Amino acid sequence: MVSSGRMKLLRWAGSKSQSEHSIVPHLDFSREYIEPFCGSASFFFTNAPKRAKLNDYNSNLIDFYRRIVTRARSVWKIYNALQTDQSTYYSVREEYNLLSPCVRKAALFLYLNHYCFNGIYRTNQKGLFNTPFGSHSENKRKMGLKEIRDYSSIAKTADFFSKDFEDFLDMVKPEGACIYMDPPYFTRDARVFGEYGSSVFQNTDLKRLKSVVERWSKHNRVVVSYRRCSEFQELFSDTIVATTEVTRNVGGFSGRRKRDAEFIAVAGPI
Ligand SMILES: C[S@@+](CC[C@H](N)C(=O)[O-])C[C@H]1O[C@@H](n2cnc3c(N)ncnc32)[C@H](O)[C@@H]1O
Repeated sequence: MVSSGRMKLLRWAGSKSQSEHSIVPHLDFSREYIEPFCGSASFFFTNAPKRAKLNDYNSNLIDFYRRIVTRARSVWKIYNALQTDQSTYYSVREEYNLLSPCVRKAALFLYLNHYCFNGIYRTNQKGLFNTPFGSHSENKRKMGLKEIRDYSSIAKTADFFSKDFEDFLDMVKPEGACIYMDPPYFTRDARVFGEYGSSVFQNTDLKRLKSVVERWSKHNRVVVSYRRCSEFQELFSDTIVATTEVTRNVGGFSGRRKRDAEFIAVAGPI
């Protein structure tokens, strides 16, 4: 297990690291742990279940995880050699966008995540990463080799996938697992669209989420966390067990933060 005082492997918009106390009691890490929208997989890394399957639509994120499993030291050496000033950041960003998946790209992914604005993975319409430099980044310390190795040894227990959440579950066909679903929020606010690259969660995806939860909760415990809103309440009313407070950035890029509420829904056998 990686201790809570350690630097996080990744910063991620919507990371659940602040909501551990309210969501984790509903999860069962003695079962296989499955996260179809894993992002920074904060619960996975802090609770280190013995078996896990992690999925995210962002293929560069998943490639990064796979590389730290097999090439942690090489990833760290490239990452550690980079300066943390603004002009280095922009030349790294340019190089990152030119590379196909490889160890160097994974190292640049880690660097950009640590030194970009708010850990947001924003892409333009061509799919190129375009998050600006973070204003307080220059003084931020680098992650050490031991830390990355600790994360690497936890990541070794997981299988990684990069698919749409529904296709992923249809492919792995879980049985007796604990599935934690933390999708992006459906929103009519266009400014939030860039937070996870081009993958935007629509109202139709929320209905799709509902039918996916119904299908897989017959033989698995399924926990969903979602922004408190009428659309979710109507669809999931029979499974909502709690409401919790979270802190989020307003509009992703504005840098303002506000308190917000989230529903927790639990479906399937205890
Ligand atoms: C709220 S974040 C998950 C945060 C995560 N629980 C954590 O602790 O960091 C939602 C994630 O869903 C991913 N995503 C968006 N649409 C998706 C889809 N259709 N299928 C799978 N993943 C998707 C995004 O790339 C993003 O990483």
